[in-house]
Order: sequence, then structure tokens, then C-alpha cells
Amino acid sequence: MAIISTFCKKGGVGKTTFIGYLGHYYATLGKKVLILSADDQNSIFKIFGAEDKIFEQNDDYFEFLIAGHVELGDVLIEVRDNLYLIKTLNTDKLSMKLTLERAQEKVIKRIFKEYAEYFDYILIDFPPSSSRLTEILLDLSDAVLIVVGLDSLGLNGFFNSIQYFIDNDLDLESIKYIIPNGYSKNRRAPKTSLEKLKEQSHDFTPNAIVLPPLQDKSIIKNIQAEGISAFDVVELPPYDRVNKELLEKDLKELFNQIKL
Ligand SMILES: Nc1ncnc2c1ncn2[C@@H]1O[C@H](COP(=O)(O)OP(=O)(O)OP(=O)(O)O)[C@@H](O)[C@H]1O
Ligand SMILES: [Mg+2]
Repeated sequence: MAIISTFCKKGGVGKTTFIGYLGHYYATLGKKVLILSADDQNSIFKIFGAEDKIFEQNDDYFEFLIAGHVELGDVLIEVRDNLYLIKTLNTDKLSMKLTLERAQEKVIKRIFKEYAEYFDYILIDFPPSSSRLTEILLDLSDAVLIVVGLDSLGLNGFFNSIQYFIDNDLDLESIKYIIPNGYSKNRRAPKTSLEKLKEQSHDFTPNAIVLPPLQDKSIIKNIQAEGISAFDVVELPPYDRVNKELLEKDLKELFNQIKL
């Protein structure tokens, strides 16, 4: 079992998209996958067209599990074969509680240990903001994947993420992969940003592998608007079908380079 997180202290760079597709890919390979939304926007549900599940019930948030009000199975929301999500209600409040009651940290560790018996992968989707919960969950992660937007703000996000690790005494060596996102062959800025990112990664995270960049693809936005994941088998108009097949192929190539 591996605990894998996507993190970046910059919003909208593709963390949720990446971890959602990675999780779905592993699930299609027959692995049992759990994705915990540590982001109270719970946008991971959108990747799978399951937003209605966020509000369907109001007693199945991660917080209820930590508080001991519900059982491990009660908070799992199945969105695809082998793929389950957990939603979060209010990470700020939860973090406050964690800061006040250090014993809660042990509860979270125990919960993960128990889930580890059922799942091959536990993935965590983080918001760009951070809290005590962020620290605890990053510390629990076997591998952290930093998703970086390929523009100057994106590079700042990478730098701030490294700074965050250092400030909070988190192990920089747990950063195993860096995923540049938003690459475009026809634009110069992403190319320059990619070169800079490689240099910065060489300096700050020498043990991390910078993966080939994920292209800026409009098909990603199109299928997400329809609640279709990259690995769903669905009927699409010809143009979208071709683009979705290309996306699937690119993602598989990328994911197969991740050894965890
Ligand atoms: N490679 C890509 N090409 C085109 N659009 C993309 C790509 N990756 C992500 N997107 C789009 O960018 C937007 C932000 O993506 P996503 O929600 O995954 O980012 P995030 O880092 O999780 O954001 P937040 O910080 O709000 O959690 C979404 O609309 C998504 O569809
Ligand atoms: Mg997100």
C-alpha cells in the first residue's frame, strides 16, 4: 500500500485533475483506490461527475470518522469500480481541533493504518492553503507529487511549496515526482518555465524526478464539464472521442513512469 499526495501552494494548477486520473487509472488496473479530499471544496467529486454525492448526506464527512461518530466504511463514497472518495467538511475547524488536541493525530494515523488493509493506494488531494491537517497528512505520505503550472506564477508555487516543507520540518525527500502541467508546444513561456523548473528542482529537490509535461488540453475541461473522467468508456462526438483517446494515451504514458 502506498499513500500518495498531490501538493502545490498555488491554486488551479491541476492537482485534483492529476490525482483523480491517477487514481482512476490504478482502479482500471484492478487496484483498490481511496482518494481522500483534504480540500473542503471536494472538487475531486467533479472529476467523476459526482458533485451530488457531496451534499447527499451530511453525516459522512472525514471529520465524523475522526470524531468516532461513524465507522470506516460509512464515509466511503464509491464513484467507479474499485474507486472510493472521502469528503471533508471544514479543514480549518478540523485543524484547529488537531492543534488543540494532539491526540487526534494518533487517531488519523490509526485510521490510515486500518484503510491500508483494504486499499492498494490511498491518494490525498490537497487544497493550495495549508493547515495543521496538511502537515499531518503530508507527513503520513510515502510520496508527494508536486504539480507545477508552467508560467511564472506556477514556478512561484513550486518555490513556495519547497519553502513550506522547510518551514514545517517536512521531509523534502518525500517529494518523489514533479509534474509540470499546462505545456504547449506552440508557446514559448511554458518552455522557458519548464527549463527553469528543471534547474530549481535540481537545486532544491535533487531526489525528485521531473516528469514530461502534461499538455494544455481543452478536452480535459470539456470532459470535466460533463462529469466524464479520462478513463471512462463513453460515447462521444468524433472530435472529442479522438482527443479523449489521445489524452488517455498521454496519461497512461505519464502514469507508467511513476513507480510507487
Ligand atoms: N493539462 C490541462 N489542460 C487543460 N486544462 C487543465 C489541465 N489540467 C487541469 N486543467 C483545468 O484547470 C482547472 C484547474 O484544475 P484542478 O482543479 O485540477 O486544479 P487544482 O490545482 O486542483 O485547483 P485548486 O487549487 O483549486 O484545488 C480545471 O478547470 C481543469 O479542468
Ligand atoms: Mg484541487
